Amino acid sequence: MLITIVTLFPEMFPGPLTCSLLGKTLGTLWELKTVNIRDFSDNIWKKVDDTTYGGGAGMVLKPNIVHEALNYALSLYKGLKPAIVYMTPRGKVFNNNIAKTLINNNGIIILCGRYEGIDQRVIDYWKTNNNLMEISIGDYVLFGGEIPAMVLIETCLRFIPGIMHNSESVIDESFSVDLLEYPQYTKPAIWNGNSVPSVLLSGNHLEIAKWRTEQSKQITKEVRPDLWEKYLVSHNK
Ligand code: ADE
Repeated sequence: MLITIVTLFPEMFPGPLTCSLLGKTLGTLWELKTVNIRDFSDNIWKKVDDTTYGGGAGMVLKPNIVHEALNYALSLYKGLKPAIVYMTPRGKVFNNNIAKTLINNNGIIILCGRYEGIDQRVIDYWKTNNNLMEISIGDYVLFGGEIPAMVLIETCLRFIPGIMHNSESVIDESFSVDLLEYPQYTKPAIWNGNSVPSVLLSGNHLEIAKWRTEQSKQITKEVRPDLWEKYLVSHNK
């Protein structure tokens, strides 16, 4: 799985992606490349942006420069068709289902915007010709798409076989079954005067599973009524 980041800040990568399981498998189960948009500048000052037509604050990345950078990123896939994603607060809100569809492609190219945005014509061109998908990580605005790209990468890679030691932990946890995860406990059995729920010490696997499902339902109902409604509908309740 080759992931290519098209960015003005390649030095931000791999950054936190070198930690833990992702770091250990970087170079074997997945590869990361960066393409610096500035390398495709069309002027001696290495400028990549210009003022916005119609007026207003901020600068917009020029379409020809972003287009060349994306074309170069695509050439790294040698004729294969990777998923192409543009990180933007105007995109579809990211979730596990989108992550699973993204990893079913021959790699991923992630375009990160900065400043006020990217000229719409290059976005439209790549949408029409290369199925570019606009993705947001939530209803808030960051300075650029680099941190959202890291969120997307980490989420996607957790679905790649071999990256997680225990594939059950991906299936079992929050959102996989439309419910949030139940609480977890470890030793000591009593800490700060509080003991672990006794059912977890019972060794009765059926009762433990029932307790965990009940906890998941209670927590979801309380903190995510939207997910709870979805769960009721999809389980015909
Ligand atoms: N760029 C800036 N904010 C963003 C967000 N919320 N999601 C994706 N890309 C972004």
